[in-house]
Amino acid sequence: MIIYFTGTGNSLTIARAIKDATGDNMMHVYEAMKPDVLSRLESEETIGLVFPAFFFNPPEPVMSLVERVKPKSGAYIYAVVTCGSNPGSSVWDIKTALAKKGARLSYSRIIPQPDSSAIAFGNDANSQLAKLDASRETVKSVIDDIKVKKISLENESKTLLGSIFAVKSLYHLGLKLLKKDVNPSKCIGCGVCARVCSANNIKIEGGKAKMGDNCDYCYACVQWCPSQAIEVRRKTTLSALQYRNPKAKANDIAGK
Ligand SMILES: Cc1cc2nc3c(=O)[nH]c(=O)nc-3n(C[C@H](O)[C@H](O)[C@H](O)COP(=O)(O)O)c2cc1C
Ligand code: SF4
Ligand code: SF4
Repeated sequence: MIIYFTGTGNSLTIARAIKDATGDNMMHVYEAMKPDVLSRLESEETIGLVFPAFFFNPPEPVMSLVERVKPKSGAYIYAVVTCGSNPGSSVWDIKTALAKKGARLSYSRIIPQPDSSAIAFGNDANSQLAKLDASRETVKSVIDDIKVKKISLENESKTLLGSIFAVKSLYHLGLKLLKKDVNPSKCIGCGVCARVCSANNIKIEGGKAKMGDNCDYCYACVQWCPSQAIEVRRKTTLSALQYRNPKAKANDIAGK
């Protein structure tokens, strides 16, 4: 089973390539956390996790799944981490959480992709599209490795930035700095943001999007809004800076 989390589609596209090549099933991490699915995962021979690094660690729902799941003894567990450039402690976090319950992370790979957080700093992730081309060979070699259940960990160490951002108070301070909100004067009530939000944190009320407090900071809503109505740090969102993986579609993001 391949379990993915994604905001702009980088991790989704790679999870899908693994699925197509291995014939394994795939599902969104929120689907995998449903109690009946979680118990089914206990009999899986292979569990793959494909997710982005957020603040030098895995996204919270991915950690939450890893902490809850009880893999069967000897299961082959792998992690494929997409990131802009620095995955921090992402692999270490997964490896350590699994080790606490006697399970082993067998394989990990890091795959740099266009940085989905660039827009928050006024930068253009679309200028990093060459990373997608550069990663094609890496994805192929990941697939080859997974098919033969290769044992090998890349970037498995704990890092300083990973440790700093793993401190909950600092992590949440970081989130506040990157806070996003709906600009009602731009919102056309189309509902795309609610559709791409896997955390179900956005509702359409009175023809406008309304954001709750249950955010995973995947930036899907910021990136996919056709009206640039979701703004980070109260700065105007520019359509030219919105990034979506060219192979992903809005309907696929949240796995709903
Ligand atoms: C809130 C946020 C935090 C991020 N933190 C990191 C990070 O710590 N290190 C990094 O290299 N990239 C970071 N990124 C970039 C993403 O990991 C990268 O673009 C990833 O491929 C996005 O995957 P997705 O399209 O599946 O969401 C961050 C992106 C977001 C939105
Ligand atoms: S995607 Fe943008 S325009 Fe559409 S409802 Fe959400 S915030 Fe409003
Ligand atoms: S509100 Fe936006 S950033 Fe937060 S989880 Fe939903 S889509 Fe992602």
